[in-house]
Amino acid sequence: MMSSFFPRIPLFLTFLLLLSSHHAVRAEFPSKFLNMAKSPEQFEYMVRIRRTLHENPELGYEEFETSKLIRNELDRMGIPYKSPIAITGVVGYVGTGHPPFVAIRADMDALAMQEAVEWEHKSKVPGRMHACGHDAHVAMLLGAAKMLQENRMDLEGTVLLVFQPAEEGGGGAKKMVEAGILENVDAIFGLHVSTRHPLGAVAANSGPILAGNGFFEAKITGKGGHAAIPQQIIDPVVASSSIIVSLQHLVSRETDPLDSQVVTVGKFQGGRTFNVIPDTVTLGGTFRAFSKENFMQLKHRIEEVIIRQAGVQRCNASVNFLSPFYPATINDAHLDKHFRAVAETMLGDGNIKDLQASMGAEDFAFFAEAIPGYFYFVGMANETEGLLESGHSPYFRVNEAALPYGAALQASLAATYLREHRQGPVPSSHDEL
Ligand code: NI
Repeated sequence: MMSSFFPRIPLFLTFLLLLSSHHAVRAEFPSKFLNMAKSPEQFEYMVRIRRTLHENPELGYEEFETSKLIRNELDRMGIPYKSPIAITGVVGYVGTGHPPFVAIRADMDALAMQEAVEWEHKSKVPGRMHACGHDAHVAMLLGAAKMLQENRMDLEGTVLLVFQPAEEGGGGAKKMVEAGILENVDAIFGLHVSTRHPLGAVAANSGPILAGNGFFEAKITGKGGHAAIPQQIIDPVVASSSIIVSLQHLVSRETDPLDSQVVTVGKFQGGRTFNVIPDTVTLGGTFRAFSKENFMQLKHRIEEVIIRQAGVQRCNASVNFLSPFYPATINDAHLDKHFRAVAETMLGDGNIKDLQASMGAEDFAFFAEAIPGYFYFVGMANETEGLLESGHSPYFRVNEAALPYGAALQASLAATYLREHRQGPVPSSHDEL
């Protein structure tokens, strides 16, 4: 229809028509999807999914029931998918099945901790809790999937729905990338709920927003014995204390004060009683930096300091670095413009908050390292909910009123991206669907 219609009208008119439709499009998806997401039917759908997942939390690479629930929902919506990827991962496909391809992502795993919030839908699994809101992330992505599928005739390419396992230290995103899910994909968007930003607002920024993260563990070996005859033993407790103090000099004395880096020793395990010096001490910690170069330098120096400082005290040391290292999360500058345009249309200028970079780490970094990526935070704070404890607290709570915002943003970011990056002439029909 388009091809027979356009040649009959003057070129400048065609141009004007394209221009105005382009602008209309910018506003069309964000307001449409936010209205849909807030409708009682869609909202209740997401709340139900989120509460079901909250009651049944699963740890990284063990998200079998979560994965099954996602596949059942996609089946019900008529959305094809690939699974399993990286053990429990699922990737759904909505749209034409043709390029361009854009991805939206949710993480599925819970944490090994006991929920302390007393409510109707409290975790049913002792020692397991969705304390980071990944249950809400899955609900939002399924909500987005539903809206995109209902509007599939308007999609001018394909949206990948990426449900990944093991965000919390397991490197699930890395495994998904290695499985090739991002082949031919132009961009990926990810979100996290935020207890620090107001409901109806988002926080984001271009460039590095979260640090690269590594974990180390060291074993310091001496020669244990009676606490009262230190001359006959080699004390790994004192050696380890020197090591910890020396490690604290790496950031304070060897790095640029204007370039943020962190070394923390959070684990120190040695003897069990007052009057016995143990044979060994185990130390463990984390180190963080924004650039790969600084990160690798820290890694090199941590190993060197532990081994040499142990030697000063006549101990032996071995150092292990736990893989994988998480790269820094770096938001693409072009996607930042896209994000701001979509989010401003949906939420208004005042509701796009500047995100200050932090030393936290996020598995999404593996996606954003492979292709242009954008990670943003969706506010949950309001007066009705009162004080919301931060993620990884046993008192963490999700404000479910944020679900429509996350779903509508993910769906709009993807649909608008496809329209702005469509390839070739506008297809006259979507019969292939
Ligand atoms: Ni999280």
